Amino acid sequence: MKHLMTVEDVTNEDLLRLFRSAESMQTGIYRFTKGNFMDKILCPLFLEPSTRTRHSFESAMIRLGGNSLSAPTPEMLSINKGESISDTLKTESCYCDIMVVRAPVSYFEWFNFDMDYCGIPIINAGDGPYNHPTQAMLDAYTIWERYGHEDRTSPFAKRHLKHLIIGDLGHSRTIRSYVELMRRAAGHEFYAFDSTNHSHKIESVHDNLKVEYVRCERDIVDLLPSIDVVYLNRVQTERWKGGPRCYSFEFNTTMMNKLKDDAVVLNPGPRQEELPVHLTNWNNVKMWEQVRNGLYLRMSLISMMLGKLPDRMYEKKEAHA
Ligand code: CP
Repeated sequence: MKHLMTVEDVTNEDLLRLFRSAESMQTGIYRFTKGNFMDKILCPLFLEPSTRTRHSFESAMIRLGGNSLSAPTPEMLSINKGESISDTLKTESCYCDIMVVRAPVSYFEWFNFDMDYCGIPIINAGDGPYNHPTQAMLDAYTIWERYGHEDRTSPFAKRHLKHLIIGDLGHSRTIRSYVELMRRAAGHEFYAFDSTNHSHKIESVHDNLKVEYVRCERDIVDLLPSIDVVYLNRVQTERWKGGPRCYSFEFNTTMMNKLKDDAVVLNPGPRQEELPVHLTNWNNVKMWEQVRNGLYLRMSLISMMLGKLPDRMYEKKEAHA
C-alpha cells in the first residue's frame, strides 16, 4: 500500500496483518525496536478540526520512536495566503517521511498530477464528506476484537453480523467508509436510519450506500433484538448549508435494553446527543475502546506504510499465548 485514500486501498490480507500487529502492540507482547523509527518524521496536515485522528497519529509516531511536526491551524498555513493544497503537500513532503492529511474537499482535488508527486506515503484522515479510511479500519478492528476470535484467518467475523447504522447518511464520511469496508464481509447485513431527515430521501454523496433503509424509530426498536453492531454517528452540522433540517435522534435506555448481551454499540466520535452520556458505561458501548484502538491501529499502519511492519509478527504473539 503506497498511499491510503479510501478503504479500497487496503487489501483483506493487509487488514489482517494490521489487526494482528495492533493486537500485539495493545497487549504489549510485541514491542518495536524504537531505533527503526528514530529518523522518521510524520507531518499532520489538518485543514479541518480533529482531536482523535490527529493526536492518535501523532502519538502513534512518537510511541514508535519517531517524531511528529507540529500541526498548525489552517490559518497559520500559507494556504491562507492562496497556496494550493497540492503545493502545500509537495512543500511539506520535503520535510517529512509520511503525511496525514485532512481537508474539506475530496482527495481528488489534493493533487496536481498524481499521488506519487510528493514521493512519500500519504494517508487520508478525512476528505470532506467522502472518506475516512483509518476510522473505518479501527471500527472494523474493534468489531474483530469482539467477534474475530471465531476466525483468526480473516479480518471480518465469520458470523453473519447484522449492522444498524444511525446517522447523517448524506454527509458522514465515517459511515460511508465503514459500509464500504464492512461490506466485504460475507453474509453481513446492513440497515440504516437517516437521523437528519424523517422523509428519508437520501441526498448528497451517499445515496449509493446499498443498505436497507429503516423508516422510523419504531422499526429501529423492532430490529434491535437481532442486531449485532449498532453504529451511531452525529449529525454533520458543519456540512449543512443553512443548517440541518433534522430532528434530534437519541439512542435511549429502552433501545439499549432490546440489544443482545454481546451486541456492540460503536460511535466514531465526536459524540453528541445520539449517544447520551448516561449510556456510555453500558457494557455494549465500545466508544472509548474505539478511541484507544485508533492509536494501536495507526501505529501499525504507519509501520506498514514505512515498510517496517514485520511479516510474521502474529506468530510471535501466538508463541507467547
Ligand atoms: N472520528 C474522528 O475523526 O474524530 P476527530 O474528528 O476528533 O478526529
